Order: sequence, then C-alpha cells, then structure tokens
Amino acid sequence: MDKIQINGGRKLRGEVNISGAKNAALPLIASAILVNGKTCFTNVPDLMDIKSIKLLLEDLGATCKSSKGSLEVDGSHIHKIEAEYDLVRKMRASILVLGPLVARFGHAKVSMPGGCAIGARPVNMHLSGLEALGAEISMDHGYIEAKANRLIGNEIYFDTPTVTGTENLMMAASLAKGTSILRNAAREPEIVALADALNGMGARISGAGTAIIFIEGVDSLSSSDIAIIPDRIETGTFMVAAAATGGDILIKDCEPDHVGSIISKLKSTGTEVQTYQNSIRVIGKEIIHSVDIKTVPYPGFPTDMQAQFMALMTIADGNSVIHESIFENRFIHANELLRLGADISISNGNLAMVRGVEKLQGAPVMASDLRASASLVIAGLVAEGTTVISRVYHMDRGYEAIEKKFSQLDADIVRIK
Ligand code: EPZ
Repeated sequence: MDKIQINGGRKLRGEVNISGAKNAALPLIASAILVNGKTCFTNVPDLMDIKSIKLLLEDLGATCKSSKGSLEVDGSHIHKIEAEYDLVRKMRASILVLGPLVARFGHAKVSMPGGCAIGARPVNMHLSGLEALGAEISMDHGYIEAKANRLIGNEIYFDTPTVTGTENLMMAASLAKGTSILRNAAREPEIVALADALNGMGARISGAGTAIIFIEGVDSLSSSDIAIIPDRIETGTFMVAAAATGGDILIKDCEPDHVGSIISKLKSTGTEVQTYQNSIRVIGKEIIHSVDIKTVPYPGFPTDMQAQFMALMTIADGNSVIHESIFENRFIHANELLRLGADISISNGNLAMVRGVEKLQGAPVMASDLRASASLVIAGLVAEGTTVISRVYHMDRGYEAIEKKFSQLDADIVRIK
C-alpha cells in the first residue's frame, strides 16, 4: 500500500487548480441512469470513487467512455436493476442508484451500504422518502428492494437535512407522476448542481438550494451535457493548508461562493483571504488565533472540513472547541494528531478541546478516512521533521493527485509506492 512522506516546515507558495467535486460528480453520474440515452460530463475528477461508480453503472449495463476529465454514460442498454454488495461496499454513495433505478425501471435492488469509520450512516430517510412516493420497500439478506409501477408525487419531510437523501429523492421524484415537495431538504451546492443538471435533461425542479424543493414529475428525461462544479472541500483543504504553513497561495478554478463559512472562520484566525471571480488567495500569518467551530448542514461550517481545521487549531495561540454535530465518530484523526505532539481531548464523543502547541513533530501516522488523511497531510506540512502517512488509499478516494498538487506549492512531499 502506498504511503505519503512529508518533510515539514516549508511555507506553501504558488498556484493550485481545483478539480471537479467528488460529491457533485457521484449523484450527477448516477442521474445518467434516468436517461434512455447518453449523458456527457466534463471536469470529472480522476478519483477512486469515480472509478467505483463507473464500475457499478457498467455492471448494470450502462456504457461509460472516459477520456481526460470527461465521461460519457449511455443508459440505453441498462438491463440489470441490482447493485451488488461487492461494488456497493466499496463506496456508500452507491445508494444513489436506488432512486434513479426505481424511478425509471419500477424496480431496484441495492445492497445495504453499511457504515464506515465516521458513523453508522443509516439510509432510513432515503427509504421512507421512496415509500412516500409509493415504492414498496423490503429488506432481504442485506439488500434493499424497492418496487413501484410508477412513483407518485408526494410531500416528504426530512427529520434532518440529508445530502444524498435529498439527491436520491429529487432524482426519483423527477420521473414520478405529479408533484413532490421535499421539506427540510439539504441546501449544499451539490444539490443545486444536480437540480440544474436534471432540469437540463427536462426535469421541472425549483427551490434547490433552499429547504423546500418542488419537483413536477415528467415522463422521461433526455440527453444533456453537464460540467461538474469545483470541489469546495478540496478548496477548503488547500486554504487551511496555506493558513497552517504561513504560506501565500492562489487557488484557481474554484467557486468562492461555495466556501463562505470556511473563509469566515479562517479570517477569524487572522488569516488573510482575498476572493476573486474563480480564485481565492490565502496568505497565512505568523500567529494563528484559535477559534471554535461547530459542524452543521450547509451553509454552515461543513463536517467535511472539521478534520482539516482541527489540524490548524493544533498550532493556534489558544484553545479551540470543536463540536462535530453531524457524525457520531468523526474524531479518529485526533489520535493520530496526538502522535505528532498535538494537545487534544475528546469529551462525550462529539466535543474536542484543542489546546494550541508551539510546534508539531513529524512521526509515522495512519489515515482512517478521507478527510482524516487530509488533516494528517496538513499537520505533516507544519510538523518539524518527517511524517509518513500510511493507508493513503483513503486519500485517493477524494483527492486527485494530492501530493503532486502540494509539491507544486513547494511542499516537500512524495508518494512512496
Ligand atoms: C454526504 O454524505 C457526503 N457524501 C459526505 O461527504 C458529507 O460528510 C455528508 O453528506 C454531510 O455533509 C456525499 O455527498 C457522497 P447525510 P451523506 O445523509 O449524504 C444522518 C466526504 O468526506 N442520516 O447528509 O451520507 C447521517 O447519519 C463524505 O466526502 C440519517 O440518519 O450524509 C448523518 O448523521 C463523508 N438517515 C446526517 O444524517 C438517513 O437516511 C447527515 O448525513 C440519512 C442520513
């Protein structure tokens, strides 16, 4: 298994280009199942998770043709409605094929996605939403089965905002008979991107980006060209890395409007942030002020940036309280940061007290999940000496060529095969 080796202490300098968003690409590629024809995607990131969803769609009978940064999916010959355990277990987001399959074919069997390191990751809201649209849901030997002659529009109220739950039901409702209303819907930019793409295919969706989404069902959707939006979490990751190293970088091909809460928090630490049309300049300062964060649904501070921000707070000039309110076990990276000399204590599972220290010391550490690995890279960039991160396959799921991008920013970072 690959490792990443970092010799810390260098300030990041230069320019970096942001890739297409993993969490936008996954639902968008799944939406191609709804179309009896070709859907073309551009600005597709080169990630393990994208390879996984392509394998899943090909197993269903779709054809996927990809070339540098673009992907064409032809859903005309889908002949299978079962997403098998072996493919689903590799990526939880596979649950996103459930809504499109039952909407277009009236039948779907998808393996229960199971949990992951950060939490149980239940899908009860996906299932109760599909039931509200008239699907008959059953569980059988680890598989979810959904059946419906035709989904019927209805009103759906989410107990809490769910990103893929909102996406699954927006896709399902697009082909239902009649109108659906999703209340307490997630408001992430990826939801807006999916609604825009579905409308480009002929769907009739309004309100995406707010807590109430209206979907007027249509009989079919047609081919369309879709550009994947920039990855706001990759953007935030580089912003925090520049702040932590006291560097000065220009982040290009990004969408500043999607990272407002991260910009606001970084400015509170004393970091200088200048925003332009599609780029952001981040200038780190000698002193990093400690700030408290609480992760909440968009447009609040994103849970996917919590681990990265914790790394920054380990070398801040005071104490920071980090409240992880979305997932029940998303502090695994804290134990690894302690190995680098950080001073962190966790209480009742979702509160972390981070006491800033003068400096971190490099050491061997282990990645446990996608964003935890990004946190360890940031810590390694500032630690004195050498940090070696193992299990970087977690990183490769969601960051395209991360070590190449950081070395372009003058970091001393290499991948060890
Ligand atoms: C999406 O996961 C993202 N993944 C996650 O990014 C992200 O952390 C998460 O949203 C929150 O922003 C993709 O978009 C592919 P949720 P998702 O449903 O949709 C509970 C990354 O690092 N819940 O919004 O699975 C759930 O347990 C990944 O890129 C239910 O209880 O998250 C959680 O506590 C990690 N029942 C909360 O809601 C349900 O049916 C929010 O989860 C669904 C969710």
